[in-house]
Amino acid sequence: MVFDIYTLVEVTWILFPIYAANGLTPVAMRFLKAHPIDGGRMLGKNRLLGDGKSWEGLFFGTLMGILIAVVEMLAFPYLPWDLSPVALSIIVMAPLVGFLLGFGAMMGDIVASFFKRRMNRPRGAPVPLLDQLDFLAGAFLMLSLVVVLKWEWIILGTIITLVFHVVANVIAYKIGVKKTPW
Ligand code: CTP
Ligand code: MG
Repeated sequence: MVFDIYTLVEVTWILFPIYAANGLTPVAMRFLKAHPIDGGRMLGKNRLLGDGKSWEGLFFGTLMGILIAVVEMLAFPYLPWDLSPVALSIIVMAPLVGFLLGFGAMMGDIVASFFKRRMNRPRGAPVPLLDQLDFLAGAFLMLSLVVVLKWEWIILGTIITLVFHVVANVIAYKIGVKKTPW
């Protein structure tokens, strides 16, 4: 089943490192000097990736993925798994898994920016669905190298991410962190 609490727990476990990588990077970049990955290079009349994709962001996001995966790995033995009446498919966390999730998320985001520039969208211009799902797709793709993914995780993860994104942006707008609610 896609919409049951067990699938929700299984996929949330996977989403934590991914969201940490994607969500904390823009925050960290307020304090770090950005060196663009494309080094300012152009492809045609647009930037290859743009100033929104920096080495610092790639590195920090990957690090956050590893960090949260390690926290989950250490917390695993102390979590109340026996509350569940059915056996859960909780993926085994390890630094490598965190790397794949964090690096995959950042790479998905970079690939999306490559296509946004080819579509003549400047840095920061919204492309609905692509902006919200690029990092998730990248992370799942990398994770699939070491874990056999359940299709339920992909469907529920996609839905949760879309809903979470809308809710988070509306809250950010209401509290004055963002200028627009999208
Ligand atoms: N960021 C970064 N390096 C990365 C990814 C993100 O420095 N590899 C930082 C940038 O400060 C960026 C912010 O995180 O502005 C938000 O990321 P994102 O929304 O993906 O970038 P945009 O600025 O919207 O640019 P784009 O149109 O290319 O997505
Ligand atoms: Mg953006």
